[in-house]
Amino acid sequence: MSTAKNQFLSLFSHITRRTRGVGVGKLSTPWFTKPIASAPMNGWSGPKLVAAVANHGGVPIFPIGYFTDPAAILKDLQSILPLLSDNGPQQDDIGDSEEEGAGNKTELLPYAVGFITFWLDRQGPDLLLKILEGQGDLPHPTPSGETTTTGGAKKALRPPAAVWFSFGDYRPYLKLIRQHGAAGTRVIVQVQTVQEAIDAQRDGVDVIVLQGTESGGHGAQRVRPLLSFIPEVVEALQERNKSNGLKVPAILAAGGISLNSQWRAVEALGASGVVVGTGFMPTFESPGAQHAKERILNASDGGDSTVRTRIFDELRDFGWPEGYDGRVVRNLVTDREEEDMKTRSVVEPKGAEAFKVLREDRTGTKEDWKRAVKDQDLDYIPLWAGTGVGLLKKQMSAAEWMDQLLGESEKDK
Ligand SMILES: Cc1cc2nc3c(=O)[nH]c(=O)nc-3n(C[C@H](O)[C@H](O)[C@H](O)COP(=O)(O)O)c2cc1C
Repeated sequence: MSTAKNQFLSLFSHITRRTRGVGVGKLSTPWFTKPIASAPMNGWSGPKLVAAVANHGGVPIFPIGYFTDPAAILKDLQSILPLLSDNGPQQDDIGDSEEEGAGNKTELLPYAVGFITFWLDRQGPDLLLKILEGQGDLPHPTPSGETTTTGGAKKALRPPAAVWFSFGDYRPYLKLIRQHGAAGTRVIVQVQTVQEAIDAQRDGVDVIVLQGTESGGHGAQRVRPLLSFIPEVVEALQERNKSNGLKVPAILAAGGISLNSQWRAVEALGASGVVVGTGFMPTFESPGAQHAKERILNASDGGDSTVRTRIFDELRDFGWPEGYDGRVVRNLVTDREEEDMKTRSVVEPKGAEAFKVLREDRTGTKEDWKRAVKDQDLDYIPLWAGTGVGLLKKQMSAAEWMDQLLGESEKDK
């Protein structure tokens, strides 16, 4: 896979990796060489998975999730660094690349951070600003061999390669990144509708992720399968390129992708890469619990064994905005919700009503929910996953899984 030919990867060609045996200052092979981004999965991705994906040339998105403690997130980000091969890009890599987009001297770390936008609205931009300043980095050697300190040498700290936004209005943050971020920091926006993709093109977003209804985790309540979603967006964006000269951003496809044939299919439809969540869940490096990983591996017929629902948002009380729900592996709660919908006129259980599905006698309470969370009881708590679950059979490392998806594993050679 040549990075120059791939629109998504060429956006990151300024993030380089030391090539051993080459004279100092003359290195620069692009860090990202595989058009796979690992999704920012709250509870299912973390420093180990992020580092494994980055080390193997993929683009990992670290999940910021429903954060309340910015310092804890920065600490987590710092813990990625020692896990990266070469401990991240080297100081003397700065500005070596002559490829488009390299035009700045700030070194960037080989991962992105992923925000849930409406949650960021609630918490305020402080954490985002700290990340843009590079506070998720660790002191590292400078070319002269000195060690910087976070207090004295802020300029030496490295911000991430990209910032991802999903579920909400990213525009204030896009402005903030363009004003305060490094010139090479890319902005990735995950969208759920054709209009949102058109708006993101107008706003000058670098990468648009088209999230199909097949996706695991949260997404649009209204159904848009990738097979029709991708070509409709591609056509709309190209039309605006012709009529208004608007640049067509790199397009990634997200939702239910587990096989090399699916990657080739979405590539044929116009995507220059994929975002995969569910496929990384059973990998060894994912922080998810083993019994949950096994449930993913044992699921079959993803369209049947997973279902979109809002009931867990009601139970968890995170205040998800209208228009979104999430795809989970079916369990007792979703089964009972469906049953209830057959016999009652309630379309979506709200508030206290939602807890009632937790018990056979329909008298469930918040305490029942707390118990289920404490016990990690998958019959009650959500196991977010996409329709691709039926295609995942074997536990493997993230690198092995990426090779398989790209048709680059031993058996493909
Ligand atoms: C367990 C899980 C957690 C997720 N958490 C987030 C999240 O915190 N932020 C986000 O933007 N997307 C999240 N997503 C959705 C992903 O961004 C992506 O759209 C999805 O994983 C792609 O579909 P797939 O899971 O079928 O590969 C999550 C998905 C899963 C499976």
